[in-house]
Amino acid sequence: MPHTIQGFSRLTKDEKIAWLTSNFLSSNANATQILKQYWNDDQKLQQLHDEFIENTISNYYLPLGIAPNFIINNKSFAIPMAIEESSVVAAASKAAKFWMSRGGFKTQILGTEKIGQVHFTFSGDSKKISAFFEEQKAQIIEDLKPHTESMERRGGGLKSLKLVNKTNALEHYYQLHATFETLDAMGANFINTCLEQIAESWQRLYNEKASFKSADQELVVIMSILSNYVPGCVVRAEVSCPVSELSEADGIDPQLFANKFVQAVRIAEVEPYRAVTHNKGIMNGIDAVVLATGNDFRAIEAAAHAYAAKDGSYSSLTHATIEDGIFKFWIEIPLALGTVGGLTKLHPLVKLNLEMLGNPSAPQLMEIIAVAGLAQNFGAVKSLTTTGIQKGHMKMHLMNMLNQFEASEEEKNQAIQHFKTNKVTYSAVENLITNLRKSAQNA
Ligand code: MEV
Repeated sequence: MPHTIQGFSRLTKDEKIAWLTSNFLSSNANATQILKQYWNDDQKLQQLHDEFIENTISNYYLPLGIAPNFIINNKSFAIPMAIEESSVVAAASKAAKFWMSRGGFKTQILGTEKIGQVHFTFSGDSKKISAFFEEQKAQIIEDLKPHTESMERRGGGLKSLKLVNKTNALEHYYQLHATFETLDAMGANFINTCLEQIAESWQRLYNEKASFKSADQELVVIMSILSNYVPGCVVRAEVSCPVSELSEADGIDPQLFANKFVQAVRIAEVEPYRAVTHNKGIMNGIDAVVLATGNDFRAIEAAAHAYAAKDGSYSSLTHATIEDGIFKFWIEIPLALGTVGGLTKLHPLVKLNLEMLGNPSAPQLMEIIAVAGLAQNFGAVKSLTTTGIQKGHMKMHLMNMLNQFEASEEEKNQAIQHFKTNKVTYSAVENLITNLRKSAQNA
């Protein structure tokens, strides 16, 4: 096949770029320079990044912003956020400031349990395999000791192991369902190592000891893997205040605002089309801190959306009420996070971001990140139910549009002045730049 290659990973970085640019970027004379301009001058730092993954050719930058003024359980935080979307950090900061003078955010860990499964098929009598599992369970756990000892010393490890008959869902399908406590580690490596050991023991014990074993009573391990669905690893974050305190300088009637806000959240609770966008706004805040702290945002996303659908229909992750004149707004979200292992010590910025947060434990980081999601959602729903989202969003996006038109510093300053009192739209920015350039030509 043209444009394919054997042994790409063995090429040097320069050779990889040369191959790539000549095969897939030949029309772009600047391709190599664009890739190389993101290389770090510090060779050691660059090598560190090169070695995070295979076939690294450059670094992909995202802005790292700070949302200050978060009060969480009476302690103040400046939260690091890595994200490209213009308005996210501004909205988080605004929401943090809003709640700073209204008691701040309160959080509670509802659980820290992680899950893993050994999926297997068994074609014989389900009663026999269940009874056999109960007989062998102690041996399986004993075999696991070398892997769990150190985690157990610190209070973690395997918490439960049971056989689940899933043959109603799929013929011959069973699983060994395990729960774990992984403390400050996200735990994927620990859990997967344990599961592979459990699977090995289970298969061996069956082969060696199951008296009922025969050709039509076959046990086959299909796979062993953690579940990213962690409905037992959940944090709750909340804000509340008397409705009368919801008023702000913009003069909106606090009762009307509270009513509209609660109604907007109810709509997200019952209407999946709205819920997805509502939760996307929450994930704007969550993912940004997850990324900044070196955690796995794909795992977090997958778990959050599964949790949002846990009652059978996709729904909002946040909820709001007004009771006895008190406005209450909260989130409940599963967050399997780590503050040790993974990138946490390796990536200098991740390390610094964790330090800035006071080197939190994993549960403390769950609390901080849930708060970031709640704040983000508060900002979005507040805008949506008052000014509309575009006003703030387009203001924040203005600089991107100006950069797209390659505006000079002078043009940017004039545009910023102009849009202080005018509505920002793409065509308004285009018109302004065209007119500025025309009058500069005619001057
Ligand atoms: C945009 O990234 C996020 C929002 O659409 C969220 C929402 O609608 O709640 C503003």
